[in-house]
Amino acid sequence: MRQKVIAGNWKMHCTIPEARRLATQLTKRLDKKPAPKTRVIICPPSTALSAVSEVAKGSAVYVGAQNIAWEEEGAFTGEVSVKMIKNAGAKYTIIAHSERRKYFNETSNIINKKIKTALRNKVKVIYCVGETLDERQNNLTKDIVLNQMEWDLKDLEVTDLKNMMIAYEPVWAIGTGKTATPEQAQDVHSFIRDIVDTIFKGSPASKLSILYGGSVKPGNAEDLLSQPDIDGALVGGAALDAAGFHKIIQASEKVGKK
Ligand code: 13P
Repeated sequence: MRQKVIAGNWKMHCTIPEARRLATQLTKRLDKKPAPKTRVIICPPSTALSAVSEVAKGSAVYVGAQNIAWEEEGAFTGEVSVKMIKNAGAKYTIIAHSERRKYFNETSNIINKKIKTALRNKVKVIYCVGETLDERQNNLTKDIVLNQMEWDLKDLEVTDLKNMMIAYEPVWAIGTGKTATPEQAQDVHSFIRDIVDTIFKGSPASKLSILYGGSVKPGNAEDLLSQPDIDGALVGGAALDAAGFHKIIQASEKVGKK
């Protein structure tokens, strides 16, 4: 059975008090026993990691960063290292989000180094892939995703996958209110699982959690999460509202085992 995951990417939102408030609202909602079977992860901005980790302590909520530097230490003005986010309580980090690829020119070479740096430091990775609207309209979705995975995951070992999950986030669905249909998402998720089994020996894909991201809301979560290869969601805007995010977690709890 694969781990179900609902992760919230808060992006560049929330000051420290705002982050503390949002995390508190969420942990209160998840307080009731039994603890959810779904792994709940929230990824605040790096300035709020420490505060959110304090709030999350002892709760069912795990904390993740949104990015790390590819180097572990040194003269890299403005960067935040894996050791820093780990020390601030992060157990996970998102890597290769499309906004990082687009606005910060993250190449496969950089992404590959970041993944290895995270794993070497025992921080789990939420690795993102996805195509733009133009690429989808030109029937290039699978070529793009395959290309991203081939280069971004270069020289990783099959055992590394135990500490990774993949998020399929079509760029055209991010923050646009346009969600991929459950069928469109399922098609790419199953393709991603096939690629993983092609790249790595030993059929590891059956145990790998693959999340969908792109305008996931309480109203569409259950339909998406019911798909056989969709194990969770990476939620942007809707993660900034504790009640709505909790509803998405409840949708995950409701859908059957895979
Ligand atoms: P939205 O849910 O706001 O579309 O963002 C998705 C996303 O980019 C999560 O990483």
